[in-house]
Amino acid sequence: MSERIMVLEGDGIGPEVVGCAIRALEALNDAYGLGLEFVKYDVGARSISQGEWTVEGVIEEARKFRAILKGPMGDPGIRNRQGTEGGLDLILALRFSLDLYANVRPVRLLPGVSSPLRNFSRPDSIDYTLIRENSEGLYASHFGGMELRDEVAVDNQIITRKGVERVSRMAFEIARRGRGSPWDGRKRVLCVEKSNVLRSFAFFRRVFDEVSADYGDVEAGHMYADAMAQYMVLHPDRLNVVVTENMFGDILSDLGAATVGGLGVAYSANLNERMGMFEPVHGSAPDIAGKGIANPVAMLLSASMMLDFLSKRDAAVALESAVIRAMSSGALTQDLGGHLGSEGFTDKVIENMG
Ligand code: NAI
Ligand code: MG
Repeated sequence: MSERIMVLEGDGIGPEVVGCAIRALEALNDAYGLGLEFVKYDVGARSISQGEWTVEGVIEEARKFRAILKGPMGDPGIRNRQGTEGGLDLILALRFSLDLYANVRPVRLLPGVSSPLRNFSRPDSIDYTLIRENSEGLYASHFGGMELRDEVAVDNQIITRKGVERVSRMAFEIARRGRGSPWDGRKRVLCVEKSNVLRSFAFFRRVFDEVSADYGDVEAGHMYADAMAQYMVLHPDRLNVVVTENMFGDILSDLGAATVGGLGVAYSANLNERMGMFEPVHGSAPDIAGKGIANPVAMLLSASMMLDFLSKRDAAVALESAVIRAMSSGALTQDLGGHLGSEGFTDKVIENMG
């Protein structure tokens, strides 16, 4: 059965890294008979600002697909009427309107990348998945905070049973299917909150515990968010799957990315049960756009997550392994101290697929 994939090319280096990912996916399409069909859209801050697309138009189109491969979007030079960046409206609209409630970010030290945590410089010594609740928490107040007479401001944190249940379930499913922690091979989900201080987090923890009862084969644990920030620096090897509230997840996932070499290699999925949007963590990198030197690793590994979501497990592993083998053999782009361009690196990945 064929599967149509929505491809959003984005801005800046977007079309370059998306092109690399499509080339790798086409190679797998042939080798594994995946039947993937790529439907490309020149969508990003530029096309929105020029009136080629509206945000609503893109969302309506997106609803026709099960998987979206998204290039980075944004152009600091393009502003909307509120003075904020045009491209960001679209990114947020995609996540919210499509109810992509789980932001799943692998934190994995790849070969050839050096971690600022010197004790953990061996590839895969850091290998866990951080799941950020993407639809509620403190950021739900974005639509309802208030400020009174330049004297008082209030934002409310919203935690719902449905919200915690579904993201916790997602975390246990990911733990069940994925690798264990590098430390002891065990599968565990750590729920990160501040239930010592806030009632809403005590509720988060209680609902998480209820869900954990359905997963006897996966250990469940808790950690307060402040302690977690330390733990991610001191003992990242002991982590396996982490699930947390929206704002904590925002902050901790940036910390996690920094421990494994930062932007060029950080990848992610925005998921619900029905559909997923797969994108690199980095932006459109206007400073290097058009030079052919962008690192496509984050985009390629996002594409591998997409294959996994579409139950093309063998092809997903083949792509991930090919990226890792290429990097182990010293194939690296300039941001990681190598000399290859985007296309040259992608050639190495395709060579390593067999
Ligand atoms: P950025 O991530 O685009 O770039 C930061 C630095 O990292 C730059 O020096 C860039 O050259 C480098 N870099 C990023 N990705 C790279 C790659 N694949 N290979 C090699 N070097 C890479 O962040 P910045 O400059 O703050 O934002 C640029 C635009 O991207 C803005 O319009 C911003 O709003 C947007 N953005 C979009 C995101 C998305 O689509 N999800 C996420 C983050 C930013
Ligand atoms: Mg952030």
